[in-house]
Amino acid sequence: MANRDIVSTLYNQMRLPVIVAPMFLISGPDLVIASAKAGIIGCFPAPNARTIDVLEEWLDKIESELKDTAYEGMWAMNMIVHKSYDRFEAELALVERYKPKFVVTALGSPKRVLDRVHAFGGKVFADVINAEQAKKAVEAGVDGLILVCSGAGGHTGKYTAFAFVEEVRRFYDGPIIVGGAIQSAKSITALLALGADFAYMGTRFISCPESLVNDDYRSMLVDSTMSDIVTSDVVSGVMANWLKASLEKSGFDLKSSKGSTEIDFSDIHGEGKAWKDTWGAGHGVSATECVESVADVVDSLAVELKTLKSTLNDKLAEWPKA
Ligand SMILES: Cc1cc2nc3c(=O)[nH]c(=O)nc-3n(C[C@H](O)[C@H](O)[C@H](O)COP(=O)(O)O)c2cc1C
Repeated sequence: MANRDIVSTLYNQMRLPVIVAPMFLISGPDLVIASAKAGIIGCFPAPNARTIDVLEEWLDKIESELKDTAYEGMWAMNMIVHKSYDRFEAELALVERYKPKFVVTALGSPKRVLDRVHAFGGKVFADVINAEQAKKAVEAGVDGLILVCSGAGGHTGKYTAFAFVEEVRRFYDGPIIVGGAIQSAKSITALLALGADFAYMGTRFISCPESLVNDDYRSMLVDSTMSDIVTSDVVSGVMANWLKASLEKSGFDLKSSKGSTEIDFSDIHGEGKAWKDTWGAGHGVSATECVESVADVVDSLAVELKTLKSTLNDKLAEWPKA
C-alpha cells in the first residue's frame, strides 16, 4: 500500500482522524478497545503490561474483542526501541504473532523493527521530535511520521506544530500524525489545515474510566489548567510535561536539572523508577472538564466538529478582501 493509500483507507474506516496516543501506565486494552469501538484508533505502550505473559493476554483480549467487527485492526502497539530496553525481542516476537496493522516506535531508531513488521504486512509509524529525526525515519523506510510537538504530555517536543508540520511536509508526502496539546475539534481542524492527516491525542483521554489511572490523577486533571503543567527533565532525564502538583507531592526539586542523564528503560516497572508515581499531562489539560468515557469524548469531538464547520465557513468567507 502506498503511503497516501494508508490515509485514504483509514479515513474510510474512521469516524474522526484521531489516534489515542500511547501513554505509560495509562493505556491498556480497555482504552484501546473503547477507542476502536468509538471509531478512532487506540494505541498502547507494550511496557504497560508488567510481564510478557500479561502482554500476551492483552493482545489476545484486543484481538478477540475486535475480531469480525467493523473496528477490527483499528489499534496499534507502541514499542520502545531504545537500546536499554530489555524486553524488546520478546515483544517483537509477540508482534509477529498478533500482527497489529500498526506499530509505533518511540525513543530510538525505527530500523530495529521495520523489516520484521513489514514482513507480515504491518505498518510502522515513528515518533520524532525534530526534522532531522523525521528525515532519518523516512530514509529508513517508515510508513508514517508522528510529530511530537511542544505542549505534549509526557516526553515532549519543543517545536510548535505550526512550524514542524509545514517543514516536514516540504520533504514528506506520507501520513503525518501530530501530537502536542491537541485538545478539541478546533485543534484537529487546525492540524488538517496545516497539512497533517491525523491528531495524536493523549491528555484528553487520560481521565477516561477505561484508562489505568487512579481517581486522584483524574481529579487533578479535571482541576488543572495550562499553568499547572511544568516542563522538566527531573523525572527521567528527558524533557517532559508533568502536572506540577504531582511532582511536588513526589518530592522532586524542580530547580534541579538532570541535564544529560542517560535515559534507562531497563527494569521499567522497578521500584527505583521515579516516573511511576508522577503524573504527566500536556498543555491542553483544561479540555478535561469532567470524567467522560472514550465514546463520550469522541461524540463531543464529533458534535464540536460539525458546529465548527459552519462557523469556520462563515469566518473564512470574510477573507481575502480582494
Ligand atoms: C503521562 C503520559 C505518558 C506517556 N507515555 C508515553 C509512552 O509510553 N510512549 C510514547 O510513545 N508516548 C508516551 N506519551 C506521549 C503520547 O504518546 C503523546 O505524544 C502525547 O500524549 C501527545 O500530547 P497530549 O498529551 O498533549 O495530547 C505519554 C504521554 C503522557 C501524557
